[in-house]
Amino acid sequence: MLDKIKAVVDKNLPLVSNLSNVSALLNELKDINWCGFYLRREDYLYLGPFQGEVACSLIPLSKGVCGHAARSKQTIVVPDVALFPGHIACSSFSKSEIVVPIIKEQTVVAVIDVDAPIYNRFSKKEVMFLGNVADLLKDLF
Ligand code: SME
Repeated sequence: MLDKIKAVVDKNLPLVSNLSNVSALLNELKDINWCGFYLRREDYLYLGPFQGEVACSLIPLSKGVCGHAARSKQTIVVPDVALFPGHIACSSFSKSEIVVPIIKEQTVVAVIDVDAPIYNRFSKKEVMFLGNVADLLKDLF
């Protein structure tokens, strides 16, 4: 899928167009119910292009799995969202989650968020894959 993402990303297009198409490709991942982007502005994250149910529009950096990933600049894998203190439940279907920061020049500019309707959906494989996607996308910011 990384090849498909590389093929669809065009640095000459607006960010929203690129992230919209990348969200459509990420939605081809099996056993997920939400995927998309939250973009950084000052001390909060705002909803970007996504696929799935209506989600929270704004997440303070101090809150949620997304805020934690943005603050720590680390990929966060949550095998069971009910056990993550401060998890923000946008959908009752979400059981596990991965959030990967997009880092440009040591600054988090956005996060990739993927939710799954099953527990333990995300492993090292997704950490690697979404890390590569984040690395590819950082140049768009
Ligand atoms: N669960 C996230 C919020 C975003 S939704 O999953 C789409 C969080 O705790 O930050």
